Amino acid sequence: MTPVAERRPERIVETAPAKINLALHVTGRRDDGYHLLDSLVTFAEDGDELAFEASESDSFRVVGRFALGLSEDDNLVLKARDLLRAALHDHGQPHGPVSILLDKSLPIASGIGGGSADAAATLRGLLRLWNAHLPPETLQQIALKLGADVPMCLASTPLRARGIGEAIEAVAMPAVPLVLVNPLKPVSTPEIFRSLQRRDNDPIGELAVATNVSQWMQSLSALRNDLQPPAETLEPEIAEACDLLRQSLAGYVRMSGSGATCFGLYDTEAAAMKAALALSVYRPNWYVLLTRTVPGDA
Ligand code: C5P
Repeated sequence: MTPVAERRPERIVETAPAKINLALHVTGRRDDGYHLLDSLVTFAEDGDELAFEASESDSFRVVGRFALGLSEDDNLVLKARDLLRAALHDHGQPHGPVSILLDKSLPIASGIGGGSADAAATLRGLLRLWNAHLPPETLQQIALKLGADVPMCLASTPLRARGIGEAIEAVAMPAVPLVLVNPLKPVSTPEIFRSLQRRDNDPIGELAVATNVSQWMQSLSALRNDLQPPAETLEPEIAEACDLLRQSLAGYVRMSGSGATCFGLYDTEAAAMKAALALSVYRPNWYVLLTRTVPGDA
């Protein structure tokens, strides 16, 4: 007789790490209205968590700090599941129903991936659960169909993204103490892109080779997030969040994506911890997360 433990369905857990745009230069615009970008991206060690289990019927539930207000019927996670299942079916690998649980601990509509990271984690998690394989180009096409940021979230390692975000190249980066701050004002990505004044800016250019963290942060200082000025106009608390991070002696401060999350990178864990503590005492209603960036090999 099979031992009970062996008969239990397998449960796969995937993290959907927060995406951090260290820099985001808008370099042009496509005919379909999407903006061309040159972005230096890293990921945090922390993020949402998704659990996948084979089940009698499909189900999806959202729990966690930011579950409220998030749809369980119209969610990018479900679109990712359905697109992946259809593609696997077309490749002769049909798969059955699955129950998905999303623990939503990242704020929504906040410039750090959110829905894109959850969708990418769904693709990774279901491929693992089903022990299934797709040609990398097919997986990339599915990811891009789900959103411009989904291909980079699928990689979840430090990278440079061009095109509308789909042309990805791995970049070497150190693991650095990181504090995320969000005034908990949701920001609409299409609205920020619409209010962007200058559209054909310079690309990021050559990346300097740095031998230590301080030098690396220094090498970023000329880089911008072109979405930050319009986002600060629409939501002034973004400027305040970045000011507070600068005052906390972060080595590099910017807004991520279309906001409203701002981040600070620090030389040491102690400095990051001190900053996170001070910020959460000073602004108890804001979201403050102490974490680290993941390291990357080119
Ligand atoms: O692809 P995604 O659904 O994440 O994009 C949301 C919206 O942000 C798009 O509909 C578009 O208005 C804008 N966007 C853009 N250029 C990009 C990415 C997003 O204009 N590279």
